[in-house]
Amino acid sequence: MNILILGGGGREHALAWAALQNPKCDKLIVAPGNAGIALIAECAALDIEDGGAVISFAEENAIDFVIVGPEAPLAAGVADRLREAGFLVFGPSQAAARLEASKGFTKEICDAAQAPTAGYARFTEAEPAKAYIRAEGAPIVVKADGLAAGKGVIVAMTEAEALDAIDDMFGGEFGAAGAEVVIEEFMEGEEASFFVLCDGETALPIGTAQDHKRAFDGDEGPNTGGMGAYSPAPVLSDEIAEKALEQIVRPTLREMAKRGTPYQGVLYVGLMIKDGQPRLVEYNVRFGDPECQVLMLRLGAQALDLMHAAAEGRLAEARVNWADDHAMTVVLAAKGYPGAYEKGTEIRGLDALPETAFEMCFHAGTREEGGKVLSNGGRVLNVTARGATLQEARDRAYAMAERIDWPEGFYRSDIGWRMLG
Ligand code: AMP
Ligand code: GLY
Repeated sequence: MNILILGGGGREHALAWAALQNPKCDKLIVAPGNAGIALIAECAALDIEDGGAVISFAEENAIDFVIVGPEAPLAAGVADRLREAGFLVFGPSQAAARLEASKGFTKEICDAAQAPTAGYARFTEAEPAKAYIRAEGAPIVVKADGLAAGKGVIVAMTEAEALDAIDDMFGGEFGAAGAEVVIEEFMEGEEASFFVLCDGETALPIGTAQDHKRAFDGDEGPNTGGMGAYSPAPVLSDEIAEKALEQIVRPTLREMAKRGTPYQGVLYVGLMIKDGQPRLVEYNVRFGDPECQVLMLRLGAQALDLMHAAAEGRLAEARVNWADDHAMTVVLAAKGYPGAYEKGTEIRGLDALPETAFEMCFHAGTREEGGKVLSNGGRVLNVTARGATLQEARDRAYAMAERIDWPEGFYRSDIGWRMLG
């Protein structure tokens, strides 16, 4: 099978690594890829949000299966275009990708599916939104409706903060994404992520994880795309996962199918868990980054078979071969991230890192120049390890982080604190 993966972050490096573990993968191309992916697969410069360009490229390279990593090409309808052109694609249609691209749409689906989630109201004008906030009081959550690169959510602990968020959103801070806002009840509890493969009808759980969104130790500092993750997330027990499937995921899939927009791909189910009951925080229509890195290390070669089965509508017969293991990934980011940071700084010591079925250093924002690996983004490397226990996975991941010589980078030293202290 000739495979094309769209994307160039740590998530796509992990997807590429897993695909290559599987003997069914004959040829692998990743577009655009990065310096780490280039060591294991062919990388191609390609505008992955341009459906026409992706189709031409896939035709020229006799691609059999396309795996879409990030949400932007999905929201732009690239999966639809590819399927119309006859390609087998892992990833939802543009209509189904609205589960991530519009928070208001997700709420509408939750209503129709009677899925437990936060109470909410939708607004397209500032004054009624402010009146609603004054009536509800704080804490309260203000969300830009559209895609805002993970920055469109304000968890306001005071009424003033929430009112300011309304001014920012309707003032154009988030562009078109903020033309509509969703205001939500603040949910208490512990957050965890549940990853489910879907083929339009069948939902197949492939793992749980917990991310660390804040930049610094002790969950301090600004929100980021994620500074580290581990899998499984014990708070998402089998019993709670079953409730999430029965009450949230399956009713959502039924509602999407009923509307003529069945969901195919991975559904990232962000949950808030309190008193044994899960409630939906958000859906994403792609793997989490860095959650994908821990899931792929745990699943290995079977990940490709499972994604292929999802794309072909064969999940009812698919099974996950679970290993009783744990994985952790620690993100190395450029100093200054998620604010301003320098690009192009040299990273040394990568050649000496172990590359085994237990330890991998996935690249995110890197590029190669003259034989050197240079930083090329905010989140730059993901040292990822697995072990029989989470402690073992953590020790292996941090041992790798310590061997990397990159004075312009930083990482959290407490990934996994909820579990390990
Ligand atoms: P989202 O992009 O919707 O996942 O929101 C980003 C983060 O904001 C989530 O991961 C939660 O930590 C937090 N959040 C979102 N909605 C709520 C809510 N209704 N109650 C409490 N926290 C929330
Ligand atoms: N790590 C969070 C996300 O991918 O949305």
